[in-house]
Amino acid sequence: MSQSGQPEINAATRLCAVFGSPIAHSASPAMHNAAFEKLGLNWRYLAFEVNPKNLRAAIEGAKAMNFAGINLTVPHKLLAVEMVDELNESARKWGAVNTIKFETGKSGKISTRGFNTDADAITQSLREDLKLKLHGAKVILLGAGGAGRTAALKLASEKVAELFLVNRTRSKAEKIAGEIKKQFPSIKTSVGFPKANVDLILNATSLGLKPGDASPLDERQFSLKQTRAVYDMIYRPAETKLLVAAKKSGCKTANGLGMLLRQGAAAFEIWTGKPAPLDVMRRALEESIYGH
Ligand code: ATR
Repeated sequence: MSQSGQPEINAATRLCAVFGSPIAHSASPAMHNAAFEKLGLNWRYLAFEVNPKNLRAAIEGAKAMNFAGINLTVPHKLLAVEMVDELNESARKWGAVNTIKFETGKSGKISTRGFNTDADAITQSLREDLKLKLHGAKVILLGAGGAGRTAALKLASEKVAELFLVNRTRSKAEKIAGEIKKQFPSIKTSVGFPKANVDLILNATSLGLKPGDASPLDERQFSLKQTRAVYDMIYRPAETKLLVAAKKSGCKTANGLGMLLRQGAAAFEIWTGKPAPLDVMRRALEESIYGH
């Protein structure tokens, strides 16, 4: 044992990692290493800056070196779909891979299986962090990039009553509305703000990440008084302008830390087969991201 109580790194240590670009600020190593330590596992989780043009080689390298698993983050999640031997149902459904498990067959051959733990993490976090019932809820979704598209389709699959898609580039929101109409014809979906009140405003844009950013919600178009809850997928800073204003307005609020936690917990369980120690992982994330 090392001083920290974690088994020493030795020849039996299993490795996991996250590949991304940029990767320097990833909190995933802190979250997963805290969980490995809690469970007394001789595993370690590292972070690698991987250029998209080297992604295939990096995955093959990890496979050849008998890694247990890897996570993929921006900009690799779509690219990786073509780079794994098999896609689990979640990865097929969402068209993106954020988790890979390396599996050794009877013959000793290692294969790669791709998963997506992001989509479930969104709705888990909305339920648990905002105590929100999604079935029958009215939701305004801000943003129609990768994160916005996954959130929109996932919310539709959970049978929300109505989805209002809002995006700077309207055509991208229209495209997602079209996809929902095809896949989930019973879900009322429209582009633009509603007149009536809603249960949730969900920010899936990147507005708020940078200090000078405006709020992604134009309150001249829709007032925070007209929603019960606001969720911001951004977790750094802990409180974006949107969340500060929402709190002032008396809304229930949560940031994206819960999503990060739950996608990580699901990956942990896929790799180790053991229940993820959520409290320990949450604390490690908070310490790594907010320093307390
Ligand atoms: P991600 O994979 O995180 O969703 P993305 O695909 O680049 O990232 O999407 C970023 C989202 O933030 C988009 O909805 C984008 O709006 P556009 O589709 O119009 O580009 C939104 N976004 C980014 N900067 C923005 C800004 N300054 N004002 C409004 N929306 C912005």
